Amino acid sequence: MSTTVPRRIVIFDTTLRDGEQSPGCSMNLEEKLEVAQALVDLGVDVIEAGFPIASPGDFESVRRIAQTVRGATICGLARCNDKDIDRAAEALREAPNARIHVFLATSAIHREFKLRMTKEEIVARAVAGVKRARGYCDNIEFSPEDAARTEIDFLCEVVEAAIAAGATTVNIPDTVGYATPAQYGAVIKALRNRVPNIDRAVISVHCHNDLGLAVANSLAAVENGAGQIECTINGLGERAGNCSLEEVVMALRTRQDYYHGTTRINTPRLVPTSRLVSSITGMVVQRNKAIVGRNAFAHEAGIHQDGMLKERSTYEIMRPEDVGFTQTDLVLGKHSGRAALADRAMALGYHLTAEQLDAVFAEFKKLADKKKEIYDGDIAALIEQRNADAFDEWQFVSYRVAAASGETPSATLILSRGTEQRSVTVSQGDGPLDALFHAIEQITGVTAVVRDFRVQSATRGKDAQGDSLVELEYNRQLYRGRGTSTDTIEAAARAYLNAVNRIAAGAGQPMHERPDQV
Ligand code: KIV
Ligand code: ZN
Repeated sequence: MSTTVPRRIVIFDTTLRDGEQSPGCSMNLEEKLEVAQALVDLGVDVIEAGFPIASPGDFESVRRIAQTVRGATICGLARCNDKDIDRAAEALREAPNARIHVFLATSAIHREFKLRMTKEEIVARAVAGVKRARGYCDNIEFSPEDAARTEIDFLCEVVEAAIAAGATTVNIPDTVGYATPAQYGAVIKALRNRVPNIDRAVISVHCHNDLGLAVANSLAAVENGAGQIECTINGLGERAGNCSLEEVVMALRTRQDYYHGTTRINTPRLVPTSRLVSSITGMVVQRNKAIVGRNAFAHEAGIHQDGMLKERSTYEIMRPEDVGFTQTDLVLGKHSGRAALADRAMALGYHLTAEQLDAVFAEFKKLADKKKEIYDGDIAALIEQRNADAFDEWQFVSYRVAAASGETPSATLILSRGTEQRSVTVSQGDGPLDALFHAIEQITGVTAVVRDFRVQSATRGKDAQGDSLVELEYNRQLYRGRGTSTDTIEAAARAYLNAVNRIAAGAGQPMHERPDQV
């Protein structure tokens, strides 16, 4: 039996920065604060809260998280230039534990085509950036962007210079998800062997999942001495996403015998945090996703079930309760009180103020009159619907539709804005929903293109709430909306209206733009 003392691996979560860069996954300020608090409850060490220079909204969310969230280091991203670094420092000013994360691309392809800079210029810029950031705080991370495709000699040179300039963490991004485990592990090993001052910094890894190897690459890096893993909840992130936090953490824990690594993650919070992020971003978790997917612990084959009944470990390497699956999610009913609701909301990862709880409880009572059994999914949907309503300028009041096969549908819709109520009747569209969407456009004056539209049941049973997700494109930006109701037409209308409200508030996700030039 191994007697090696496990090494502490730092978990750096970038759901709010790289994760938020997934198309359609942008979050508003309140949602980001909610996710940041859930990450603290989960036990992550570092929260990358955003990219302050990217937009006033990004700046404000990093500033608010730095001001209010306690229990983790709060990090802000900056390109290697004075303006970005100053802005990141300003956003992080009120965080008791802050980190500035400075990045600059180093691979030949980025040097030549994106930056048009020589190797010498890159090193000089990296050193200047790290030094400027060090003027604001002691905790500095430097990332040579596209490190996995950078010539190893040059990578060693840049990393050495960044550490000498004051970087305390050096992150080795596989920006385009090109690396393979043995090769990426060898890069980490080379840095450890060849960079003379490497012991003065933590080696971090940041892997994208374009080839489905982000978790495997991160683990290979740990095997070779990396001390920090950058990851996201549900593996959200640019394109195919980043290393999934829940997968990499459970791999380290389940195979501690092999990796000899340990984290501070409170693993029973994994499923609630995954659900929270999924319901906020509208990014559905695939059923068979490792660790947090609905089927991750479902044994279907008779031979497996038989083995499980005899001895769980025949077919189970982790216990569902270790990652936060409860035996049953049937929770509340008509007679349940406010305290029971508060308790379930907390278990699901929501921190509600007394006022928010009152509002959700009122909706809960209405729902309990329509539906006998209230499941976790219903509670999450109620809270999300209330959150949407709380910030939306236009509120849904009521609708009426008349539709039949082969006939033009007609919809009458009433919306309110403050004390004003507006009503419209339209006769157009391909069906009742299309007619309602036209009605929303007429009242709000916002016309957008539907990129995605889904209705699914929030829970099980015939009386389940309909949970609708809409993605609209407006001015080359994607806007997501969500709506729930026991009436699926109303759920769809609410989702559409929620997305339109986001357009009105300007909270979108640029589709092709990202401020990643120098
Ligand atoms: O993928 C990447 O290279 C990044 C850097 C900013 C760390 O996200
Ligand atoms: Zn990235």
